Amino acid sequence: MALLQQKLLASLLVIFGISAAVSAGNGHDAAPNVTRLTDLFGHLTFNHGFTEFFGGSNIQPINNGSYANLILNKSSGSGLVSQSKYYYGFFSAAIKLPSGYTSGVVVAFYMSNADLFPHNHDEIDIELLGHEKRKDWVLQTNMYGNGSVSTGREEKFRLWFDPTEQYHHYSFIWNRHHIVFLVDNVPVREILYNDAISSVYPSKPMSVYATIWDGSEWATHGGKYPVDYKYAPFVVSFGEMEMDGCTFDPKKKGVSCSKGSVSSRDPVDGEEFAKLSEQQRMGMEWARKKLMFYSYCKDSSRFKVLPPECKAK
Ligand SMILES: *[C@@H]1O[C@H](CO)[C@@H](O)[C@H](O)[C@H]1NC(C)=O
Ligand SMILES: *[C@@H]1O[C@H](CO)[C@@H](O)[C@H](O)[C@H]1NC(C)=O
Ligand SMILES: *[C@@H]1O[C@H](CO)[C@@H](O)[C@H](O)[C@H]1NC(C)=O
Ligand SMILES: *[C@@H]1O[C@H](CO)[C@@H](O)[C@H](O)[C@H]1NC(C)=O
Repeated sequence: MALLQQKLLASLLVIFGISAAVSAGNGHDAAPNVTRLTDLFGHLTFNHGFTEFFGGSNIQPINNGSYANLILNKSSGSGLVSQSKYYYGFFSAAIKLPSGYTSGVVVAFYMSNADLFPHNHDEIDIELLGHEKRKDWVLQTNMYGNGSVSTGREEKFRLWFDPTEQYHHYSFIWNRHHIVFLVDNVPVREILYNDAISSVYPSKPMSVYATIWDGSEWATHGGKYPVDYKYAPFVVSFGEMEMDGCTFDPKKKGVSCSKGSVSSRDPVDGEEFAKLSEQQRMGMEWARKKLMFYSYCKDSSRFKVLPPECKAK
């Protein structure tokens, strides 16, 4: 094709919003400019914020515990759990994922209270699902409230960068206004608190977890592409841990809220945490249009009647 025609075609495609197909390199535009919420809080070392959840010998603190490698090998996966339980706040981790063949490997950064409430637990999930094709990690977000486990509220996204090359920030906000999932500070999903969702909105204190585990059965179409331990060990690095908001004191059965250590930003009621800015909303639209490839709200083969919050948009 002549250069001029190529350029013309490219600009037409851009006009129709399918620029990814023709742009150079990895096919991704630069991410939108958004407020860097992750810069507003201090980082916790693993010694201060976390303890072993499972697979102790596969947990390696690095850099004096400001980072930790979590390993999955044939013997075990591994995981860390926060020392405190939280009731609302801002939670963030910088994560560098294992490269190479990672089908069936699951890396999760999430909150749950299944230990305290086995029958009506709450959960907010960021799950990174390894994939048989190189670089093809998938981000899955999910939420359960009050034991609503029969209705997964999954949304899945491709990433606009190679998550195995560098650390990237994976974060979420959870407060009485909304739950927001963010990747490198770009919101990718917002669950607004409203009447339609209130009965399944996470509403009890939760612990924060960072884990790597074998999700062969769960994550790969019923075990179609299980973890291949020929490529083990699978090593994920976590760091720049931020957990700011309200901690729950089980003895007093009360919640105490502290402002972030770096500034006086309040992730529970502070303005920039109660509502997305126009800039963040545009960033979210960019991410969802470009990168989301599954939403439970569009899955009419799974739900005869879509969950009520799907209509409330
Ligand atoms: C990004 O947005 C901020 C305001 O939120 C603005 O101050 C800054 O100049 C912008 N940066 C770029 C590169 O557009
Ligand atoms: C898994 O790694 C741990 C150390 O991280 C090691 O002790 C153990 O032997 C390894 N297991 C296998 C099967 O390689
Ligand atoms: C690690 O911590 C120890 C004790 O707090 C300190 O003496 C040392 O300089 C630290 N090392 C690094 C690399 O930060
Ligand atoms: C959570 O579920 C329990 C029953 O398991 C019910 O009694 C309670 O009202 C529910 N809470 C909310 C907020 O819907």
